[in-house]
Amino acid sequence: MLLHIPDLLTTEELAHARMLLGNAQWQDGRATAGHQALDVKNNLQLPPQADTARELAALVQAALARSPLFMSAALPKVTMTPMFNCYQGGMTYGNHVDNAIRVDPLSGHYVRTDVSCTLFFSNPEEYEGGELVVEDTYGLHSVKLPAGDMILYPSTSLHRVEPVTAGARLASFMWTQSMIRDDARRTMLFDLDMAIIGLRQQVGDSEEVVNLTAMYHNLLRMWAEV
Ligand code: NI
Repeated sequence: MLLHIPDLLTTEELAHARMLLGNAQWQDGRATAGHQALDVKNNLQLPPQADTARELAALVQAALARSPLFMSAALPKVTMTPMFNCYQGGMTYGNHVDNAIRVDPLSGHYVRTDVSCTLFFSNPEEYEGGELVVEDTYGLHSVKLPAGDMILYPSTSLHRVEPVTAGARLASFMWTQSMIRDDARRTMLFDLDMAIIGLRQQVGDSEEVVNLTAMYHNLLRMWAEV
């Protein structure tokens, strides 16, 4: 599932985050790359331990927690501390798959990466290139979203960031270990949840809506690892 989550951040949060990112001290992104990714990664990142990164990470975590779309699509068990990157002056990140297991830079806990998210802080007209290109079974998807919007995709996907040839692309990226590790099951649960919500708006809590809701929870009970 590739899901666009609009307006994850409020206007005020976005403005505050952009101010913090504009004054931040960046470092070479290769510091956190795996072996294969090391050869193809060329960007800047915020050191996760820095005060600015911690403040920004808390802001993003709070926004994720209040997003019904994120919660339904990711079914998070744990989301790693969000990190922040900047691409400018031709920087790019070639095709790669993210490491399956990562260590959270702040908690030190191991996390299995099931769901990847990229939250955009720059508007598309502020830079050239910089599309996030995600490959899935249906082909290539090129993603470039308004500031404050987020894209969610399975961490099993091959993906890349195209070179940024003008301007700067600021974003946050984060991984979630889901209660549902399999993308196909997670996608079905999300589709069922959205269908139930739509149906409830049309007909209220009919007996069928209650039965479908029971099915949703029973599937979740059958599949979830908590
Ligand atoms: Ni990646």
